[in-house]
Amino acid sequence: MPSRAFTSDNTAGASPQLVAAVAAAAQDHALPYGADPWTDHARERLGELFEREVDLLITSTGSAANALALAAMTPPWGSVLCHRDSHINNDECGAPEFYTAGAKLVTLGGDHAKIDPDQLAAAVRRKTGDVHSVQPSALSITQATETGSLYTVEEIAALASLAHDAGLGVHLDGARFANAVAALGCTPAEMTWRAGVDILSFGATKNGAMTADAIVIFNRDLTDQLRYRHKRAGQLASKMRFHAAQFAAYLDDDLWLSNAAHANQMSAVLRDQLAGLDHVQVQGRPEANIVFCKLPAPVIDGLREDGFRFYHDRWAPGVCRFVTSFQTQPDDIDDLTDRIHAHHPTTSHLQ
Ligand SMILES: Cc1ncc(COP(=O)(O)O)c(C=O)c1O
Repeated sequence: MPSRAFTSDNTAGASPQLVAAVAAAAQDHALPYGADPWTDHARERLGELFEREVDLLITSTGSAANALALAAMTPPWGSVLCHRDSHINNDECGAPEFYTAGAKLVTLGGDHAKIDPDQLAAAVRRKTGDVHSVQPSALSITQATETGSLYTVEEIAALASLAHDAGLGVHLDGARFANAVAALGCTPAEMTWRAGVDILSFGATKNGAMTADAIVIFNRDLTDQLRYRHKRAGQLASKMRFHAAQFAAYLDDDLWLSNAAHANQMSAVLRDQLAGLDHVQVQGRPEANIVFCKLPAPVIDGLREDGFRFYHDRWAPGVCRFVTSFQTQPDDIDDLTDRIHAHHPTTSHLQ
């Protein structure tokens, strides 16, 4: 039976390699709090991947990685510049504000959930030195974006340069970093520190892990305070080896990349099949593993009755979001598009 779960990539299970790695890590004693061999291995592997030494703090959620990274760059009187559609603005229950001890998120616009450079240029110097206003302190970019679009490496570098020139730190929310690297075919280094990123939230949970995301620090001046923030936030797991074993397996044999390439491919197939249906409008720029489209209300109702799970009508009436993952199979996509076709008022009478 095909899977009808398209709500998010975090409804998928976990890659067998990770499950096996966790089971193997359970066999013996190991030092706690990240002093274990799996954490060392993950850090070394990240060093190879990013072509330089990096610091690593593993977290149990992407929200924790984002909020702690931003707190390291933003004082309580500071502001974080971000897109109005960003996860940190809409979906983290104020965690960035909480962990920064009250800094303000200042939202910017831009098509396809990508920050408009002109708006950023105006915002980075807005009211600097004015004691009555929050001081621009950090820029947060999401790659791949919340709508499945992508920044090019050049676009990230241009935004980061605007931020750095004005003295701001640069954070990349990479909950879907793997999908972005797989789609753009660039190196992880090109998309991050070479483009001016200081800290990356490196997501794994949506792409094959069970409970592991990570803060990858390129600006190592920020590492010391982040270590304390990480502990203080309750993110320094005593049995960190189980998070680290997941991360190590995720990075070994480039599982992170092959899982993401598969998820992207499934979205590309879905996008093409939807585009071939007369009554369906694909929306936005599906470049990674998220596809938005507009469906008539009876089709949405019919799909839900069939047991399909997906978000709809949150963005605009009839707009639906389908997310594919490393576990999505071609049959799942065929099943979905067959049922969309079948439920359409002009075709359903033919059944
Ligand atoms: C863009 C983005 N950032 C971060 C996250 C991390 O969220 P969580 O705290 O649920 O792991 C998500 C998850 O939906 C996301 O989509």
